[in-house]
Amino acid sequence: QDSEKVQKVLLMGRAGSGKTSMRSIIFANYLARDTYRFTFTVDINRSRVRFLGNLVLSLWDCGGQGLFMEQYFQSQKDQIFKNVEVLIYVFEVVSKEPDKDLEYYKNCLAALEDLSQGAKIFCMIHKMDLIADSMRDKVFEQKQQEIIDVSKDFDVTCFRTSIWDETLYKAWSDIVNILLPNVQDLKSSLKDFCDANSADDVVLFEKYTFLVIANHDNIGHKDDHRFEKISNIIKQFKLSCIKTNFQFESMTFKNSYFTAFVEEFTSSTYIMVISSDPDVETEAISFNIKASRDYFE
Ligand code: GTP
Repeated sequence: QDSEKVQKVLLMGRAGSGKTSMRSIIFANYLARDTYRFTFTVDINRSRVRFLGNLVLSLWDCGGQGLFMEQYFQSQKDQIFKNVEVLIYVFEVVSKEPDKDLEYYKNCLAALEDLSQGAKIFCMIHKMDLIADSMRDKVFEQKQQEIIDVSKDFDVTCFRTSIWDETLYKAWSDIVNILLPNVQDLKSSLKDFCDANSADDVVLFEKYTFLVIANHDNIGHKDDHRFEKISNIIKQFKLSCIKTNFQFESMTFKNSYFTAFVEEFTSSTYIMVISSDPDVETEAISFNIKASRDYFE
């Protein structure tokens, strides 16, 4: 296996923008409604998250109250902005002080320019649930453009997110995908697996977060977010299992159109296989899952 790689990830944005909420939902199994009770983060909360054995994220959730922010750019500047691989900056889509949001963001970029050139930048345009459905595309485009305009030399990727739907999973899955070193190899192995089982879809989920790590799709779907929706549902199910002390190892959904298996796969993943071929035996797929485990491990 590759040697361990620790990547420093800064999670920044102004007070109340939703940093701790998203971190807790994605990495600590919180439900969206639990986040109402959160108080502000004092200074910086650091945590480590491991993915697939060889990618470790060191997450720095930086409290966004004005006083802390000032310190980040002064006395703590070196400590915070040195050796940063990724900045995830959270913007509240409805903001009382949009100019100030951009100002802080620009300060972060300037500090990175000094101390961590080449850092990857992701911006979350967050709390999209507060915008009427029909206005979301337009508002997102506008915010995204404002961000790109001030990002100068940095290549920035924007996501629209909300803790109330699967967009948060989609964004974090995409980010983890970009950071994982050998995702292309995984994808091509999944394609082989998918073909060998005449499956429609094969998806790998990270075991603890249920983020989508890689997938292969043989039929071409319309709904881009379908895995994130599934991931969300399974995660809710997993949480109910934890509450009742029931260990979830595998499950099968079946209807007249398709069969879907979700099964514990390697030490760090779950796999989902979807097949609409009525001749495919569920036992055969389950057997093949077990047989490929060592190869993917
Ligand atoms: P600081 O620690 O002060 O920097 O704040 P923070 O960025 O960590 O914000 P926090 O996660 O504490 O969230 C503040 C409030 O925003 C909480 O009441 C959350 O429930 C709420 N919130 C977070 N995400 C969303 C979202 O997507 N939509 C809506 N409507 N509310 C959200």
